[in-house]
Amino acid sequence: MNANAQQVIDWNGDSGASWVAYQEQLDRMLEPYGAAAFAKAAIRCGDHVLDIGCGAGESTLAIAWETGPTGRALGIDISEPLIRRARERVWDTMSQAEFRIADASNAPLPVAGFDCLFSRFGVMFFDDPVAAFTHLRTTLKPGGRIVFACWRGAAENDWATLPLQAIEGIVPPPAKPSPAAPGPFSFGDPDRVRDILAKAGFGGIDIEPVDHPVVFGEGATGAAAVDDALDRAFAVGPLRRALAGQPDLVVVKAAAAVHAAFTRKLVDNRVLIDGAGWIVSARNRAH
Ligand SMILES: C[S@@+](CC[C@H](N)C(=O)[O-])C[C@H]1O[C@@H](n2cnc3c(N)ncnc32)[C@H](O)[C@@H]1O
Repeated sequence: MNANAQQVIDWNGDSGASWVAYQEQLDRMLEPYGAAAFAKAAIRCGDHVLDIGCGAGESTLAIAWETGPTGRALGIDISEPLIRRARERVWDTMSQAEFRIADASNAPLPVAGFDCLFSRFGVMFFDDPVAAFTHLRTTLKPGGRIVFACWRGAAENDWATLPLQAIEGIVPPPAKPSPAAPGPFSFGDPDRVRDILAKAGFGGIDIEPVDHPVVFGEGATGAAAVDDALDRAFAVGPLRRALAGQPDLVVVKAAAAVHAAFTRKLVDNRVLIDGAGWIVSARNRAH
């Protein structure tokens, strides 16, 4: 099997389609974490920046705004539908951001071409993270920086666990993936992240927690917000996977249970659920 083959299938299939459909909501959900990483990256006019696993391009467009006409903002992603959406947004906003369909773990990229490697939740999906980060480091100028946001463990991210807890007893518990298996929570252990980056040749590794509620549903009324959260949970994330292939009756019961759990999280017509991430930064040790 080729590197990251399962991720290529997922992000060009159901996951990619759902992320395109929910792009605006997901951008609002991830915004506080992206903003924290962005502040840490301190991107300047003229910088050349690579946005890894850029998805529909929200962070790349923001980067292009900072790098200006003398800099470069290149977003790469394995998902054809997400890159298509990102390119539409370039057109809509007249941004100078560039987008390319590519696997970040082995894409041909300019050697020592970037001042900064950035990612908002796009680096936790590599089959072989040490090899991927080693490759990515070669694209960084000596002393250049990498900054990314990733989730802490699933147990600390209520937005992921709450729907699954709500369906306990209705649906057989899904098999628990190994904590290091490629996926949204694979960088939950900071020692593992530090080890991966050190083995890939990075130094000055810094890992800071960021805690922020995520807007999981919103609407003109509380009922609309809960419906929005329910739609999203059925389309994106662990609940979708847990309910795949279940009989209709089970799905209806599960929906009622998750609806009740989201209702308890309503604040001013928004479903707000705790989230927990890391902002990771490091330097290319090569001189
Ligand atoms: C959780 S999404 C985040 C997308 C985007 N950064 C955002 O914040 O909206 C993860 C992204 O990583 C991309 N991805 C996963 N593995 C990748 C790889 N090996 N190379 C490039 N992109 C990858 C997926 O296609 C997906 O768009």
